[in-house]
Amino acid sequence: MATKKSKPKAKTKASASSKKYGTLHELLILKLQSLYDIEQELTKALPKLAKAATSYELREAFEMHLRETEVQVRRLEEAMQLLDVNPRKEKVAGIRGIAEDGSWVAGHVTPEARDAALIAAAQYAEHYEIAGYTSAREWAAMMDHQGVTDLLDATLIEEKNASSKLAELAHNGINQRAGGIPMEDAPVEEEEIALM
Ligand SMILES: [Fe+2]
Repeated sequence: MATKKSKPKAKTKASASSKKYGTLHELLILKLQSLYDIEQELTKALPKLAKAATSYELREAFEMHLRETEVQVRRLEEAMQLLDVNPRKEKVAGIRGIAEDGSWVAGHVTPEARDAALIAAAQYAEHYEIAGYTSAREWAAMMDHQGVTDLLDATLIEEKNASSKLAELAHNGINQRAGGIPMEDAPVEEEEIALM
């Protein structure tokens, strides 16, 4: 009986991921390169989310955030240049999974419930970005890179606003429509009671 020959193992290509990072400065640069990849992935994902949205207001929100995201890509280039590094992407697996979640919604959720699911998927992306920018801005501020800190702050504000806008759209109509709940029958939450 012929014995099965095992294939020779392919040599692992040396990549940036085999580099060891030992300083906060190096970590900041790596974080900026990762955010640069994340933002560029989102410039591809947001048009798909906008196309899948059934309501005008959600489509508008995704399109507006796409325009902001294009500016955010430029800000990261500027931040890397301020640190004397050529803008380069570090591939981030996590954002690809998150973007796939959004595409999945388009093909698997009916129009009645789709906008609620698209908002939930987009919130993963917003919170992922907020986490990344928060660390990067803290490191930049710690090392007194004022110009970089300012650029990251500008984007962080936009990311937080985008997340709030999505939450507001979900809370004020989209979730009720997905649940078949008339607005007047929607339960009033405690914070709203406090505002009354
Ligand atoms: Fe962004």
